[in-house]
Amino acid sequence: MTLTQTSPVALVTGAADGIGWAIARRFAQAGCRVVLADLDGGRAADRAASLGPGHGALQVDVAEEAATVAMVAAALARTGRLDILVNNAGIGDSHRPTLEQDVASFDRILRVHLDGTFVASREAARAMAGRGGAILNLSSIAGITGLPRRNAYGAAKAGIIALTRSMACEWAGSGIRVNAVAPGYVGTALVAGLEAAGRLDRARLERRIPLGRLAEPAEIAEAAWFLCSPAASYVTGAVLSVDGGWSAFGDAGAASGEA
Ligand SMILES: NC(=O)c1ccc[n+]([C@@H]2O[C@H](COP(=O)([O-])OP(=O)(O)OC[C@H]3O[C@@H](n4cnc5c(N)ncnc54)[C@H](O)[C@@H]3O)[C@@H](O)[C@H]2O)c1
Repeated sequence: MTLTQTSPVALVTGAADGIGWAIARRFAQAGCRVVLADLDGGRAADRAASLGPGHGALQVDVAEEAATVAMVAAALARTGRLDILVNNAGIGDSHRPTLEQDVASFDRILRVHLDGTFVASREAARAMAGRGGAILNLSSIAGITGLPRRNAYGAAKAGIIALTRSMACEWAGSGIRVNAVAPGYVGTALVAGLEAAGRLDRARLERRIPLGRLAEPAEIAEAAWFLCSPAASYVTGAVLSVDGGWSAFGDAGAASGEA
């Protein structure tokens, strides 16, 4: 697709891998100029180059306020506009029993997910005010239901839902829509890491999911594109579950699939 200076600009954090990379591809396919921001700046640059001319990459640690402010400023300086922000960068929980979890690891998870989403959204909203835009946040089933050994991750993802709703109400008058997706289990490096550590029993998990399988990253990207596209012009403050029916399943006795 030919991109021009008037093509919408989408800034996607955590875009070098997994769901973020699938979102970057989907938004590029839809005609956006995509800025891929990631802790792994080299990989983000390779990914951006593979999308073709008109796309770019930035290195960032979204847990750091100054770096996140600089990320939005750099994206704006390069492209001259910002239409879409996707707050996707994330890390897994320590998976230690809560009784053994320390404040440092708890805090790091909150900073990446919650502070990162807050700061990037604040900066993007400054840029979008007056001309409108869309912000999409990555929550999780862990922010909606309880999962053991996920206290920091669950708190961060529940906090992201609260942030989404609050910002949506506050910025609606500026033409900025703010929504969230809440994926279930997605086949990415994050989940592969859990599996490799013996923390996740895939067969049990698949029996717990009504659709009987994990999601593909591209399936989350489709929901992300819908919420950021003009097709969702009357949708704001929404949390869209993309979880194969996980959160709809009322069998409280069913095993979660996690060891
Ligand atoms: N995989 C799942 O099952 C699942 C389910 C629900 C929600 N999510 C959420 O979706 C998002 C993406 O998850 P994923 O599975 O694709 O993860 P992933 O580990 O495959 O990819 C995450 C990307 O984010 C980057 N990143 C990590 N910390 C960062 C930081 N501080 N600053 C900038 N970039 C950083 C990584 O370098 C990586 O490229 C996360 O917010 C995650 O919590 C994932």
